Amino acid sequence: MMMMMMKLTLLLLLLVIFAEVISAIHHVTCPAEPIQAREDDNVTLQCRLVPPVDLRRYILDFTRADLQYKVVHTYQDGRDLSYPQMDQYRNRTTLIHEDLIQGTMTLKIYSVQMSDSGRYECYVPDLTAYCTLCLTVVRKDQDNKTNMTTTNICAIVLSVIVALIGLGLILRVLVKHRNLCK
Ligand SMILES: *[C@@H]1O[C@H](CO)[C@@H](O)[C@H](O)[C@H]1NC(C)=O
Ligand SMILES: *[C@@H]1O[C@H](CO)[C@@H](O)[C@H](O)[C@H]1NC(C)=O
Ligand SMILES: *[C@@H]1O[C@H](CO)[C@@H](O)[C@H](O)[C@H]1NC(C)=O
Repeated sequence: MMMMMMKLTLLLLLLVIFAEVISAIHHVTCPAEPIQAREDDNVTLQCRLVPPVDLRRYILDFTRADLQYKVVHTYQDGRDLSYPQMDQYRNRTTLIHEDLIQGTMTLKIYSVQMSDSGRYECYVPDLTAYCTLCLTVVRKDQDNKTNMTTTNICAIVLSVIVALIGLGLILRVLVKHRNLCK
């Protein structure tokens, strides 16, 4: 009896480990680097299933991990669902269905705004596979501002150098003058 129990426990344990291994076989990979975009750009978010699986029959979710995982885009039974989608993303997202065959979730977000900056999660519930990626949207005129700041710094440095040279010249003249006087 005791022996039987032990065998059964061992069998159960093996089953649990097996299930763990199976569910861990697939994972999703996200870009490690933040995705940079400017206001009004169209942005592509891409997550890949490793090893690849034809994802057309799966439920797929893109959510905002930094906003209580609210839905950015969801796909189920081969269709994109407009509910429950955040109003912010309505009519602004496209999941590229052709890419799903190779196990790639490609989401296009059109005309990104500052409020689209944040952490996104790709999630395949049936495979308990998920990953997160960051999107950073900068203002359209940010580059110009940066350029202006750089220009300003250059101007300041130049003025200081010119001023120092000028001061040096004046000092030399003064010193010479004093020498002459002596
Ligand atoms: C974004 O995509 C839309 C629709 O495809 C297009 O009309 C627009 O020119 C694109 N914008 C940029 C900045 O590429
Ligand atoms: C999204 O598109 C539908 C159909 O084209 C339209 O009826 C709806 O008003 C649009 N929603 C937004 C928030 O633009
Ligand atoms: C910033 O520069 C871009 C070209 O690089 C230009 O199209 C845009 O009008 C500029 N914006 C401002 C506010 O100067």
